[in-house]
Amino acid sequence: MSDDSRPSPPAAPSAARTAAVIPAAGRGVRLGPGAPKALRALSGTPMLIHAVRAMAASRAVSLVVVVAPPDGAAEVRSLLDAHALPERTDFLVVPGGQSRQESVRLGLDALPPGHDIVLVHDAARPLVPVDTVDAVIEAVRDGAPAVVPALPLADTVKQVEPAGTPGEPEPVVATPERALLRAVQTPQGFDRATLVRAHETVTGEVTDDAGMVEQLGLTVVAVPGHEEAFKVTRPLDLVLAEAVLARRRLNDGF
Ligand code: CTP
Ligand code: MG
Repeated sequence: MSDDSRPSPPAAPSAARTAAVIPAAGRGVRLGPGAPKALRALSGTPMLIHAVRAMAASRAVSLVVVVAPPDGAAEVRSLLDAHALPERTDFLVVPGGQSRQESVRLGLDALPPGHDIVLVHDAARPLVPVDTVDAVIEAVRDGAPAVVPALPLADTVKQVEPAGTPGEPEPVVATPERALLRAVQTPQGFDRATLVRAHETVTGEVTDDAGMVEQLGLTVVAVPGHEEAFKVTRPLDLVLAEAVLARRRLNDGF
């Protein structure tokens, strides 16, 4: 048998290389005055570093692109230099934009060739477990063009007619069936070409990247999210994040 006729080894499961884009350019207005949200410390380590480590914890992720506050790229670069990441993970830092959507696009523009799967992950979700990251990647590998981690809602949701003035009573117009609703988290995972096309063609306000893929008419699938993937938005979320980290230290026997 000649060398040519030998079957090639099966493609490694990691054949489709994954990059993670981390939008971290927001100010964190709802968290109150202080440093940009992604640079605030959780248990002594900047939130952004927790988020980068959460992506790098997945063996499939070989590149992390951090989208820094517009005037904070140098600071973010030195933070990443100062905090150890796994050997297998490269990182890039680019300055962000005025909206999350613009920041994600700037991150995508910086992606080198060779990564067929892209995760988009909020720096403000520093504690997402690696199993959730891997489940998202797995669903993209299985053929979904866009994947979101999602959880059932605890609260009933009402649709209202928003009052012009904050604090004014608002008429309720509908109650969507709660069992059909999900709260979506990040990382959201994408076939790279699909996400790039979505960012090139979809205009108007969107609050997540998968929503742009929906607007292309493609199917987005939800996989189970995780309660530790919550977004740090308001001051109370910092208390919860510190408590989660304290519980992990306890469980790890520190
Ligand atoms: N983000 C970004 N660029 C922007 C705005 C937001 O990269 N111009 C990022 C944030 O850094 C965050 C993620 O998008 O990691 C989710 O946004 P959000 O939780 O709303 O963060 P902020 O916009 O910083 O917070 P706020 O809306 O309270 O100001
Ligand atoms: Mg915001």
